[in-house]
Amino acid sequence: MSATLLKCTDLCVRFAVKDGCVHAVENLTFEIHRGECVGIVGESGSGKTQSVLAIMGLLPRNGTSTGNVVYKGQSILNASRQVMNKIRGESMCMIFQDAMAGLTPFMQIGDQLCEVLIEHQGLNRADARDRAIEVLEIVQFPQPKRRFSMYPHELSGGMRQRIMIALALLCRPQLIFADEPTTALDITIQAQILEFMKGLQKHIETSIVMITHDLGVAANLCDRIIVMYAGRMVESGSVKDIFFRPQHPYTQALLRATPRLDADPDEDIPLIPGRPPNLQELPVGCAFTERCDQAQKRCMAERPELSQKFDDHLAACFVEQTK
Ligand SMILES: Nc1ncnc2c1ncn2[C@@H]1O[C@H](COP(=O)(O)OP(=O)(O)O)[C@@H](O)[C@H]1O
Ligand SMILES: [Mg+2]
Repeated sequence: MSATLLKCTDLCVRFAVKDGCVHAVENLTFEIHRGECVGIVGESGSGKTQSVLAIMGLLPRNGTSTGNVVYKGQSILNASRQVMNKIRGESMCMIFQDAMAGLTPFMQIGDQLCEVLIEHQGLNRADARDRAIEVLEIVQFPQPKRRFSMYPHELSGGMRQRIMIALALLCRPQLIFADEPTTALDITIQAQILEFMKGLQKHIETSIVMITHDLGVAANLCDRIIVMYAGRMVESGSVKDIFFRPQHPYTQALLRATPRLDADPDEDIPLIPGRPPNLQELPVGCAFTERCDQAQKRCMAERPELSQKFDDHLAACFVEQTK
């Protein structure tokens, strides 16, 4: 069995808007191996969500994707709805940032869980109910039997997110895309859910792609990290190297902007000065130049390609770091 589960090559996502074209994702290339957890980090608007939606075949209507995505040996980018439905129902799933968005508001949670099992796995109603309750227990959803006929709005944010995770787990997925799964939750529940996902990844051989703007979350959970800026991958490497030997000034700036656990909570978190570029008019050179504290003349005129800095570590920057 190949260790590569998903291989994404030169993925580009464009959106047609009334005054032009948004270049949301440009030439994104990466692999996900079986059983590993990869973090995709970057500020809001850097193309994290749209990359995953393109892979899953769920882009908004005005979006188009090009490139090549191979999942378990099968080319799936822009595959038919029938093919994608099968893959999404059986082995690849997504946990959304906003649990409400992934749940049907007027349907009891138990029915939502059972429906997936009946439709995709051909279970009968009684077996579906047993399996759904079992999965709710796995995600530590309190009193699943009693709450089976509740509606999403009757549950707290943390409980709704657990339902989302349960929904994702029903198909015993091989690949989970978790898109900022805990951002909307308070810090204690966030920790519980992340802890749970960590356990999950260890116990069943699931690969997780964790999308987050929080490097702390990625550090906790991931084996490797991909850093995105303005629709491109600007750096990728092991968690350790990203944290201790970041090669891209943007990654360095993100790390400085990440609050430390031992930081004084009243102290202001330093933000990265400036704003990302307009994705409709990307500069010819490096998109980070304007905000970069190490920019050279060349960076304005020419775009740095990703290159190997050491081992498996890639970065798209002309500046050679000393460590
Ligand atoms: N339907 C759309 N039409 C036009 N632009 C879009 C659409 N959806 C997303 N975008 C743009 O694509 C860029 C990347 O978005 P996204 O992948 O959601 O970022 P994030 O990294 O925060 O997840 C953003 O600039 C966003 O405004
Ligand atoms: Mg997003």
